[in-house]
Amino acid sequence: MEIRGCIFDLDGVIVDTAKYHYLAWKRLANTLSFDFSEVHNEQLKGVSRMRSLDIILQLGNVELSEEEKLRLAAEKNQWYLEYILQMDESEILPGVTDFLEELRRKDVRIALGSASKNAQTILEKINLSSSFDVIVDGNMVEKAKPDPEVFIIGAELMRLEPHQCIVFEDAQAGVAAALNAGMYCVGIGEEDVLGNAHIVIPGFQESIFLRLRIS
Ligand code: BG6
Ligand code: MG
Repeated sequence: MEIRGCIFDLDGVIVDTAKYHYLAWKRLANTLSFDFSEVHNEQLKGVSRMRSLDIILQLGNVELSEEEKLRLAAEKNQWYLEYILQMDESEILPGVTDFLEELRRKDVRIALGSASKNAQTILEKINLSSSFDVIVDGNMVEKAKPDPEVFIIGAELMRLEPHQCIVFEDAQAGVAAALNAGMYCVGIGEEDVLGNAHIVIPGFQESIFLRLRIS
């Protein structure tokens, strides 16, 4: 098996935006008169915006109409945008830029596979858009992770077969999506959370090319 393409999740792999999602969701919960802790925030990683809202409303025991939910999701996104519009290159996680450059030198194709509808905005703010041959974001998919759609589209746009691709993911739903796509999956984070991935590494600081069968 020869790896020809790498597909990266964005939030939690390229940048740590979970903290901004958390602050915006917490503000929303507080306007509805309940609190939302960082422990609960773990459940939202890799999960779509509307599904995240459902989880939060369930925690607060709040039932709302579809129309009201759409209004709240839009409001949360405005607050989230206030944070991400302040981002710059300094927020790229350690080792990511060097790893992407090394992949480019090795002629490996590079894709983004993110659930976020704000992915393009974030990549522009951190000045990384041009590092990706293909960008698949939350605006291009119908089915959220753990459905493999986002990664299957990524491989197709790179003109590669699933078995030629590695996915880098920090969320359980994302690892499941990569495995459902028939791809090799590298978990970025902790073994006890991402144990279903083929291997788990803490981040891109270490040289991982040897472990990844990319020559
Ligand atoms: C994922 C994040 O990448 O994108 C989730 O891990 C987030 O926390 C989801 O809810 C959707 O993001 P956005 O930017 O479209 O609200
Ligand atoms: Mg993620």
